Amino acid sequence: MAPRARVTENGRPTTEKVQGIFRDLAPDYDRFNMLSSLGVDRLWRRTTVRLARLNRNSRVLDLAAGTGDLTMAMATAGRPASIVATDFVPEMLRVAEEKAAAYEGETAIEFVQADAQDLPFADESFDVVTVSFGVRNLPDRAANFREVYRVLKPGGRYVVLEMSRPPFAPFRALYHFYLHVMIPAIGGWVTGSRSSFEYLRDSILGFPGQVALAGELHRAGFGEVTWRNLTGGIVAVHVAVKQGRPGAPGGERVG
Ligand SMILES: C[S@@+](CC[C@H](N)C(=O)[O-])C[C@H]1O[C@@H](n2cnc3c(N)ncnc32)[C@H](O)[C@@H]1O
Repeated sequence: MAPRARVTENGRPTTEKVQGIFRDLAPDYDRFNMLSSLGVDRLWRRTTVRLARLNRNSRVLDLAAGTGDLTMAMATAGRPASIVATDFVPEMLRVAEEKAAAYEGETAIEFVQADAQDLPFADESFDVVTVSFGVRNLPDRAANFREVYRVLKPGGRYVVLEMSRPPFAPFRALYHFYLHVMIPAIGGWVTGSRSSFEYLRDSILGFPGQVALAGELHRAGFGEVTWRNLTGGIVAVHVAVKQGRPGAPGGERVG
């Protein structure tokens, strides 16, 4: 479906700006990811798959799936019944589709172009919704949380892997130095242009910390919200559970 045009008053990026950045970045995205995280992003995704608690009956929706690394990690390690991988930039999804073409497992993988703030799916149609490094790009996070709540079945889990805030101040200062200096430098080196990476850096610095994000998910109606810090809190995986069924799976308080 065509994404809705959005202009925000609060200084957050517009849909058009974010689409332009990822359209241009699509061919180099995986290389940038690997260099900028030194490959640690694979470990982050592996933990995210574990926290999703998939089983072979799970119906999964992966939002802002980009080039499909979390989608493929779930298909390989979690082996759910199906994954619908969505993104609003077709150039990113095309890279993901190439990866899925080489997949030989049993999970049915489908790709759908969709805005994560306005989902073209029926109420209560997924057991698990995931998003990795996508939420901070959304001009309207609350709309995304509402939509995810709507499409999740009662007891379903929203698993959010996102850049976060290291709680230990000296480590945070070192990390901020890395964000300010290295991210635009690596991005400029990989793609020849620094400006998109200055946006990525600013989107990380402007994103709420662990407690604030958990509060937003609670306000969206999720009954239980927990998180796990990874790599000293550079990233966090939040798990938000939609209540409504006795015995619904709970999250772990490990953050
Ligand atoms: C940093 S990439 C993350 C991709 C992938 N999930 C990963 O872990 O590598 C962010 C992705 O979010 C997508 N995106 C940003 N805003 C979106 C929106 N409103 N709806 C759908 N996708 C969106 C971008 O197109 C891009 O592919």
